[in-house]
Amino acid sequence: MKIKSSVVLVTGANRGLGAAFARGLLASGAAKVYAGARDPNTVNVPGAVPVQLDVTRPEQIANLARELTDVTLLVNNAGISEMGPVLAANAVDSLQRLFDTNTIGPLRLAQAFAPVLLANGGGAVINVLSVLSWVTLPGRSGAYSASKAAGWAISNALRHELKAQGTQLLSLHAGFIDTDMTRNVPGPKSTPEEIVQQTLAALEAGESEVLADTVTRDAHRGLTAEWPVYLGARE
Ligand SMILES: NC(=O)c1ccc[n+]([C@@H]2O[C@H](COP(=O)([O-])OP(=O)(O)OC[C@H]3O[C@@H](n4cnc5c(N)ncnc54)[C@H](OP(=O)(O)O)[C@@H]3O)[C@@H](O)[C@H]2O)c1
Repeated sequence: MKIKSSVVLVTGANRGLGAAFARGLLASGAAKVYAGARDPNTVNVPGAVPVQLDVTRPEQIANLARELTDVTLLVNNAGISEMGPVLAANAVDSLQRLFDTNTIGPLRLAQAFAPVLLANGGGAVINVLSVLSWVTLPGRSGAYSASKAAGWAISNALRHELKAQGTQLLSLHAGFIDTDMTRNVPGPKSTPEEIVQQTLAALEAGESEVLADTVTRDAHRGLTAEWPVYLGARE
């Protein structure tokens, strides 16, 4: 889809990748960007329209879909990260929070906005996933990876279901991005702006998936290796 003249809802647009999406979309000619945030007062993107949205609150999602009838692009960006072993006593609670925000929230948004996108000619949905949809950081990302792996499966299902109404589904997979989420993670990171630029180019090119960096492309290729990457290092 074309970004010029689009009307976009970005979830989690008050900081990090979501704020970069909102800025990038406006710079690329979007007619309007609704910046979803749990606290709309924290949105600081010139030209964006702050709207209240906690993606774990179904009634807020439903209200927004009734109000924002001009949306042509939904960017499911809001997400949380909780790290720790899946054998830890708090792992199930963590898994539930991660699924509520990273998996079920984006699905509810896609469900609520699909009729809006249809009424406006088809449009598109961008789901922000991760290289951790396919791999786990041992002892750390099991629950987060599960939420993004489920998000990947649901995105693939949505791609087919939305195709019938002319809606493009674009999944974004990336390794570390330099935001608050990775503040304490050392090592190389992409900038949010690089990720947004690639994603918007892929959207305009009609693609289904963005593999945004080398680690993501390597992991994706490694899924079919003799010792697949998702099994981790061979002892
Ligand atoms: N950073 C990375 O390395 C990386 C890599 C791959 C994928 N991702 C994914 O990229 C997306 C953006 O992450 P980020 O790096 O920009 O993280 P971030 O800087 O921590 O920002 C997360 C955003 O999500 C919002 N959010 C969290 N829970 C929410 C909820 N229940 N309802 C609405 N908004 C909520 C936050 O709002 P508040 O300010 O209210 O908390 C914030 O705006 C996430 O889906 C993340 O999983 C990140």
